[in-house]
Amino acid sequence: MKSKISELIHRLSKVTPFPETELDNILKTEFGISLIKLRTLEDAEIVPDLERIVEERVLTGIPFQYLTGRALFMDEIFFVSPAVLIPRAETELLVETASDLITRHSLKSLVDVGTGSGIIAITLKKRYPALRTLATDISFDALKVAKKNAILHSVDVDFVQCNLLSCLDGPFDLIVSNPPYVGTNDPYRDFRQSEPEIALIGGEKGYELSLELIFQAADRLSKRGYIIIEVNPYVVEEMMGKLSGFEIQLIKDFNGANRVMVLWMT
Ligand SMILES: C[S@@+](CC[C@H](N)C(=O)[O-])C[C@H]1O[C@@H](n2cnc3c(N)ncnc32)[C@H](O)[C@@H]1O
Repeated sequence: MKSKISELIHRLSKVTPFPETELDNILKTEFGISLIKLRTLEDAEIVPDLERIVEERVLTGIPFQYLTGRALFMDEIFFVSPAVLIPRAETELLVETASDLITRHSLKSLVDVGTGSGIIAITLKKRYPALRTLATDISFDALKVAKKNAILHSVDVDFVQCNLLSCLDGPFDLIVSNPPYVGTNDPYRDFRQSEPEIALIGGEKGYELSLELIFQAADRLSKRGYIIIEVNPYVVEEMMGKLSGFEIQLIKDFNGANRVMVLWMT
């Protein structure tokens, strides 16, 4: 098994700088087993299927989540398609920040803007079944995936096709979003070419759509309301210079980068 694992890692290194992490991710998502566990086995029935996924991944360069149609977020499986962003580990910080505020302030309503596969809204609704939960996306195809995920996770979320919050009145206790925040000239732009541009590009600097969302959200917040938004750490200082009338807190991710912004009205 050890030589088979080394061979698969070597093959994956042609398409990713983190082949071990990716193999572990494939194993957990598709077979419910970690790489550490697989290393302890003499033999495993999953090997032919695992080899097939790695082979297709290396041949096509397409992220394995789009090949299999499934991705892992906070240890749970979600459907994905090329119409949605592949869930990122950084977004866990947004979910944990939202959970903390919901618990501490007994928040009752939530809207997730740009829900994509629905991971944020669905994870929070699962944790807080009494939370009135809405989710918007401009992409009809993304919403189809999010609705499938709500059924998969047996939660009741209202999905609306909408440009940011323009079709909703509020007030909401919590407005959360992981919006597109890559700039048009950002080198990060080419990071995963298979992902939809509408899920990645937030304007020339990257934060333009986020600012529009924050200004719309300010008109739709309840008195005790909060906005939580995932931000691009490279331009967050510049972005903050464009905001006034809010209290703002920045939260760092596991790499020490400012990744989540919490705003409330003063
Ligand atoms: C970075 S992805 C985040 C998806 C998901 N929330 C996640 O965290 O994986 C941004 C999402 O915003 C959606 N989007 C882009 N522009 C939008 C707009 N003007 N109004 C609503 N949604 C938008 C995209 O379709 C995409 O699904």
